[in-house]
Amino acid sequence: MRIPEHIIEQIRHDTDIVEVISDFVALKKRGRNYLGLCPFHSEKTPSFNVLPEKGIFKCFGCGKGGDAITFIREHQKMSYVEAVKLLAERLGIALPEDAGEQSHSENNRYENAYNALRFAGNFFYKNLYGELGSDALDYVRMRGFTEETVKKFALGFAPDNFNATMTELQALGVSEEALVDAGLVGKKEETGRMYDRFRGRLMFPIQNPTGRVIGFGGRRMSDDDKSSAKYLNSPQSLVYNKSEVLYGIFQAKDALRKLEYGILVEGYADLLSVSQAGFQNVVASSGTALTKEQLRLLSRFCKRLKIVYDSDKAGVNAALRGLDLAVEEGFDVEIVRLPDGDDPDSIIQRDGADAFQHRLQTALSLVDFKGEIFREQGLLATPTGKVEAVRSMMETIAKVPDRIKRDFMIQSVAMRFALREEDLYEELTKILRRNQFSDAKERSRARAQEERQDAASDAPFETTAQAGEQAKLLRLEEKPSSEDRTNTASSATALQRSNERFPQEFTQAAQQIFPEEEELLRLALTVEGACAYMKQKMGITEEFFLTAEAKTLFIIIDEASQNGKPLETLLRLAAEGEDLHSSIAGLAIRRETPSERWRNFNVEIAEDLARVMRDCVHRVMMRTLDLELAVLHDHLKVAEIADDGDSSSVLLRQILELDTKKRDVRALLVTH
Ligand code: CTP
Ligand code: MN
Repeated sequence: MRIPEHIIEQIRHDTDIVEVISDFVALKKRGRNYLGLCPFHSEKTPSFNVLPEKGIFKCFGCGKGGDAITFIREHQKMSYVEAVKLLAERLGIALPEDAGEQSHSENNRYENAYNALRFAGNFFYKNLYGELGSDALDYVRMRGFTEETVKKFALGFAPDNFNATMTELQALGVSEEALVDAGLVGKKEETGRMYDRFRGRLMFPIQNPTGRVIGFGGRRMSDDDKSSAKYLNSPQSLVYNKSEVLYGIFQAKDALRKLEYGILVEGYADLLSVSQAGFQNVVASSGTALTKEQLRLLSRFCKRLKIVYDSDKAGVNAALRGLDLAVEEGFDVEIVRLPDGDDPDSIIQRDGADAFQHRLQTALSLVDFKGEIFREQGLLATPTGKVEAVRSMMETIAKVPDRIKRDFMIQSVAMRFALREEDLYEELTKILRRNQFSDAKERSRARAQEERQDAASDAPFETTAQAGEQAKLLRLEEKPSSEDRTNTASSATALQRSNERFPQEFTQAAQQIFPEEEELLRLALTVEGACAYMKQKMGITEEFFLTAEAKTLFIIIDEASQNGKPLETLLRLAAEGEDLHSSIAGLAIRRETPSERWRNFNVEIAEDLARVMRDCVHRVMMRTLDLELAVLHDHLKVAEIADDGDSSSVLLRQILELDTKKRDVRALLVTH
């Protein structure tokens, strides 16, 4: 049976899309809308917009968009029916009994694995307080963990027996397949017989952010017995991917949001101690080197991070690596160093919560931490060592996405190492250029490969065209009435239409906002009525801009323009600590942008202002055409390699068309 349409309607209507998406993405309020980092593609400046009034989301980086149901489907990889069920559950709306019965068998496999893990968690927990668990319970007490902590993290005990867990779960109706999918059993090569993976261990259930058990870590209970690993973890399984998991995230969620920073530790025991000491905003990378995916998960909840790793060499190296990654993901990072031989758990058990608190408060900045490490390594004693140290420092700083933060860091490096800022900027530019180059190479390699795979297909642009359709459906603003449009407007719209063919490649090609875009935005921001003029007379919507940053800024400025003075509204938001303020402030401050070309105009006079705007528009169009041409040329090269004459001639025709268009636009430019 299908879910009745009226119920789906009700779900759509009642669902608060901001609330739904907030479970997965950290959203910041921007006027009436919300903005965050897109969970569907990797980005450093937010271009993922949620529009509560329309009940939709839309990413200008990758083009994904839709309503709450689409979001859940795509993000949680669920079927339509399942997504609807999940939203209904949230709202407490009852669905007809058998709705969704025909959900995919693949999905049932997931459900069965989750069930197995949940049953296992309960079984382990029960054991800890049962007859079998007395040693384990002693061990827990010896480690200083309270009953409350045991309960909060649902610790348990896996009996020291080759099939106790298996037998228990099978009695509850769990299939062999589910046991294997859940990673709870292993199989003997020779006999094919199954056995419990976890035996005689203290069990730490690993939960995903919604609280589902997805795996376990198990600790051996005696350190005399060195024959088995100290910790045993769930294997990669249908539902457990260690590189995407942060231990403790479910329990830490609310505190992370509230305190706006996270404490990152290495181990299970560290996490329990830190949390028990009252720092609930703690997560653990538990035994894997910190990954991008883990950081992305965390960034849904906060953007600041204090790393508290072990003090040994491995810990310091892990911290250095984690630091770079976290910086790259846009985190503000600090590092807490611990005395030799200590970890967060030992510090808290020995010195108490206040001592730990003090260490958190005196955490080192990135520059100070790296500086300290370099000094300990003796690098700072020699001139060549110093060069190496500074270079390594700049490599890290080059990863900081925010320009203003970067400036501050460079200042402090200059001070700490007694260097000239100019020299550091020079080094930075070199690194950035090199990174850009290798990124571009990587992208074109990936694209070429994709092309090769698609070469046989008749409709190479099908998927991007679909994305374009979606973009059109979700267009955030109504188009202006056609009578009101100038020439520029209609060509701008024509161009927009052709834009939609390659939205993804575009945003990949153009990440750094263009000066012409900046100039348009600056005018919209600082000149009264300019934004309305652009929209109404020139037909400009956010889709017109080329880079995700410009699109997003345009929406923000447009919003802020609706209630009077945009600059004031935005400065107020900035003062309230909204993080886009640096881009916005930059726009307002960088008055001289590319105005060299428009020196002859007095920007106060309306007609000249309109000409400046039109000129900017034409220049953005030139950029767009150039990028589109570059993409077409790439496609052409691939088609030629694949000896695909049909595609080649189509592409050639398109290239010629664009060349003509380019000539036309160039003729309109104020100066060439
Ligand atoms: N780890 C693991 N497998 C091992 C050893 C360690 O998965 N054989 C992971 C665990 O998540 C562990 C973390 O690495 O918590 C840190 O290891 P370590 O510092 O050796 O252990 P502690 O966390 O200090 O554990 P304990 O205090 O219980 O000794
Ligand atoms: Mn420890």
